[in-house]
Amino acid sequence: MSLSRAERLKALGLSPLWRRRARPQARAIQPRAEQPPHANEIAAPAAPAIAEMDWETLRQAVLTCTRCDLHRTRTQGVFGVGDPHAEWLIVGEAPGAEEDKQGEPFVGQAGRLLDAMLAAIGLKRGENVYIANVLKSRPPKNRDPSPQEVAACLPYLERQIDLIQPKLILAVGRFAAQSLLTTDTAIGRLRGQVHLYRGIPLIVTYHPAYLLRNPADKARAWEDLVLARQTMAQIKAGQPS
Ligand code: URA
Repeated sequence: MSLSRAERLKALGLSPLWRRRARPQARAIQPRAEQPPHANEIAAPAAPAIAEMDWETLRQAVLTCTRCDLHRTRTQGVFGVGDPHAEWLIVGEAPGAEEDKQGEPFVGQAGRLLDAMLAAIGLKRGENVYIANVLKSRPPKNRDPSPQEVAACLPYLERQIDLIQPKLILAVGRFAAQSLLTTDTAIGRLRGQVHLYRGIPLIVTYHPAYLLRNPADKARAWEDLVLARQTMAQIKAGQPS
């Protein structure tokens, strides 16, 4: 039995995110008197690809995104917060209930711990720091994001990184680290070293929500933060001023 491409994608759970419109039936052209074009004959300007969007277009695209089913259950898209020219980029997993309500990443209990972690290395939300998530919409009941949701959403984060051009990325939690590094290596093995994401140094630490449940690992998270601070100092020392 030979399956069409659409049938093979569907069998893998990878239905295309968009469908090509059916071509209109060819019909005989009738001569007609000169008339202004009908509204739906005027070509709409094509939306730019995500990888080409400027910051504001990208933000609007995230807020109105329907690339996966999470838009049906979210309150709003959560784009990110902070200085779009920041040297530090913090990447988390996905908005939770509070973030979904307020439209800002890391504003719940885990967010308060993240702010404390940043303060421990002299950083403050909004000052030379940008905070974003891999997923821009909340998964219902905070379930793990599906591979299809990540595939649909990751291009937004990739474009944010292209535009911000941070000097260092801190991936908080297994999910952000594995998504950016395209690996399934356990977080315990990803910590403690400097990775590269498209040439940008990337350091992995535990997610603050995990640390709230496992406070004994806060000492390890502190080591990661010290590594991040040292790495940033080295990056800056190595750059011509
Ligand atoms: N956890 C995340 O990973 N991101 C948020 O924005 C909130 C909680």
